[in-house]
Amino acid sequence: MMKKILVTGGAGYIGSHTTLLLLQAGFDVLVLDNFCNSKPEALNRVSRLAGRSPHIIEGDIRNYDLLNQLFSDYSIDSVIHFAGLKAVGESVIKPLDYYDNNVLGSLTLLQAMAHANVTNIVFSSSATVYGDPQSVPISEDFPLSATNPYGASKLHIEVMLQDLCRADPNWRIAILRYFNPAGAHESGLIGEDPNGMPNNLMPFIAQVAVGNLKELSIFGNDFDTRDGTGVRDYIHVMDLAEGHLAALIALDHHKLITCNLGTGRGYSVLDMVRAFEVACGKQLPYRIVERRLGDIAESYTDPTHAKAMINWLPRRGLEDICIDHWRWQQMNPNGY
Ligand code: NAD
Ligand code: WQD
Repeated sequence: MMKKILVTGGAGYIGSHTTLLLLQAGFDVLVLDNFCNSKPEALNRVSRLAGRSPHIIEGDIRNYDLLNQLFSDYSIDSVIHFAGLKAVGESVIKPLDYYDNNVLGSLTLLQAMAHANVTNIVFSSSATVYGDPQSVPISEDFPLSATNPYGASKLHIEVMLQDLCRADPNWRIAILRYFNPAGAHESGLIGEDPNGMPNNLMPFIAQVAVGNLKELSIFGNDFDTRDGTGVRDYIHVMDLAEGHLAALIALDHHKLITCNLGTGRGYSVLDMVRAFEVACGKQLPYRIVERRLGDIAESYTDPTHAKAMINWLPRRGLEDICIDHWRWQQMNPNGY
């Protein structure tokens, strides 16, 4: 029998791409999403691409009774847990929403899993748990810190997961710390569809390119980097999705996996603008403005630990990221 995977937040940006890969790999998928930051159409597109559909449950990970019902109705083998809020700036203004959705949500999910004796989970953490790193590349043993409530929520969940692993040897847990996800599925049918004004660089650039936004504001050019703009490790969302399948497999022989998922290459904001200009064949208007509060100069990882732990390396480069992101944006100028 094929394994059944519960994907929380499966309609979201990373969740939809991962759900597609799971279906294509032959897994049965149950998506639980409250659609607070996504649209059901994303899953229609996933079904079209896969030629088969996930089961879709509209609901909240904080609903313990609903989770109990799900675990008793479906024989779930593992959980991939994407559901959560992710806007750093909003988390500073509404910290309690972030602790509620992310920390309480994850706690409730873990309680329901424990109750149902489902003890495999892959969790979406973030490079934000390294705070302002002392040096780059960032490896998994770097000190952890939070500079905002979003990051603090991820750290709290990581600690919960580690404690659980220590307390009960039945648990198998993968903590995946993503760097900067970007790009879209190569079909152009699924991709990132932010609500309102994008917070992140790539969707912002893409919306300038398609004409929805007038110009990009570059947050500072006086950082200690090659060209003064911020340097990040942009990872193709399909590589990231592959990382989740690799982690699921690796949990067969590891109890606790903590891995950075990035490419090992850092690109500046100006590098990203230039690469996107090549992909879309247009010049992109931008202006240098003040630094954004809390931004760090440089962040990129060393992917060798991920290779050793989960036998995964990203396969796609900056050009693929820009071409695929642009195809998605052009085919869906206003999102889903
Ligand atoms: P997303 O917002 O596109 O997806 C999250 C999904 O979870 C959405 O479909 C949303 O509707 C759903 N959701 C939120 N709260 C829920 C709840 N209480 N119950 C049920 N569903 C809920 O975000 P994404 O970019 O796909 O990110 C997925 C995960 O990866 C998040 O946990 C995020 O913190 C983490 N992450 C994202 C990035 C990034 O830059 N995109 C980087 C590092 C980590
Ligand atoms: C990238 C670079 C900006 C927008 C965030 C979260 C992190 C993780 C990924 C969830 C920076 C610059 C951006 C713009 C700009 N998310 N920029 N103009 O800040 O590295 O990471 O998303 O876990 O936790 O903090 O990503 O895409 O916002 O910024 O100049 O309009 O682009 O200053 O140098 P960031 P980003």
